[in-house]
Amino acid sequence: MYRFKPVLRIPGPVPVPSEVSMQMARPMINHRGAIFREHFPAVLKRLGALFGTENPIYMMTGSGTSGMEVAVSNLVSPETPVLCLVGGFFGQRWADLCTAYGAKMHVLNFPWDQGVDPQQVADYLGRHPEIECIFMVQNESSTAVLNDVESVSKARGDHRALLVVDAVSSLGGAPCKMDQWGLDVVVSASQKCLMTPPGTAFVTFSPRAREHLDSCTSSRYYFDLRRYEAFLDKSETPFTPNINNVFALEEALNMIEAEGLENVYARHLLMRNMVRAGARALGLELLVRDEDASPTVTAVKYPHADSFRTRIREQYGVEFAGGQGIHANNIFRIGHMGYATPLDVLTALAVLEMDMKKYGQATKAAQLVMHA
Ligand SMILES: Cc1ncc(COP(=O)(O)O)c(C=O)c1O
Repeated sequence: MYRFKPVLRIPGPVPVPSEVSMQMARPMINHRGAIFREHFPAVLKRLGALFGTENPIYMMTGSGTSGMEVAVSNLVSPETPVLCLVGGFFGQRWADLCTAYGAKMHVLNFPWDQGVDPQQVADYLGRHPEIECIFMVQNESSTAVLNDVESVSKARGDHRALLVVDAVSSLGGAPCKMDQWGLDVVVSASQKCLMTPPGTAFVTFSPRAREHLDSCTSSRYYFDLRRYEAFLDKSETPFTPNINNVFALEEALNMIEAEGLENVYARHLLMRNMVRAGARALGLELLVRDEDASPTVTAVKYPHADSFRTRIREQYGVEFAGGQGIHANNIFRIGHMGYATPLDVLTALAVLEMDMKKYGQATKAAQLVMHA
């Protein structure tokens, strides 16, 4: 059937509200002109409430990974000892980036269905006083785990390591209190809980992290944070930015502020709880236990998940995400972040229920084989 209204239930990009989309159709303006200089710094300042910081926030034109690369390329010189906390595909991305920049690698691996254990981090740091930076993911989208960033930060005690956090799929969907939790770098992106199109990344550095910029010897140009600092002083970006994404974000922030940040977080928790209760009621097994469950995405165990997702897309026009890495084809993920409501969750669950009615016996039999 021709699907004129795709229903995106993936962990980003997310549906964009029409008020936000309309900003993308604004006439192009000069990125070195008065209108841009008026809106750009104001929008970044308002993002501070979501990051929980007074630190300046910088915007790069690029996807979330570009923000991750800004963090690594400005902090990691060849042979810098770093600790990467890996419990999924995006934790592994930190490790890959640090390896690409020649870091002296330390990796703590955690099961790909559980949160990072702060005590293990504390023990590791106790044995390795030389570590300079810790890299972790707040919301590991590949496994649907929300890591306890605050506890990991506390686990550092008086160890000097900087804590660098990927909040790409959590910023605006789960609390982030950069200053209060003592985080040193936080990275996010436009296309998840911020409800705007892909194409911009956001990065913020604590004053302590900022001190590393001049001593970092890694080659960098487009991602050299000092260029972004110099241009933000003029309310501009060093290179031509994704101009209309700024206006889109301004509109999205209007919506987030009107709802109230606490209500936004509560809505995400409600959607998480609904998905989990609904999937369980249909006899499906969740990948992650309740304590670690993400408020923005849920992973459901499902044998031959990819053909199930194709069937759902073709029959109902609903797009679920597949598994990544070791979970490829044995889970599917339901995104419930950003421009999503409890009613959207009911629709997704209804589709699941209809499919289970038709194919449930086969699914249950395959589940038994999966567990055998
Ligand atoms: C937690 C997390 N980190 C990083 C990324 C990478 O972002 P991008 O694909 O925008 O480069 C994603 C994207 O899904 C993500 O979910």
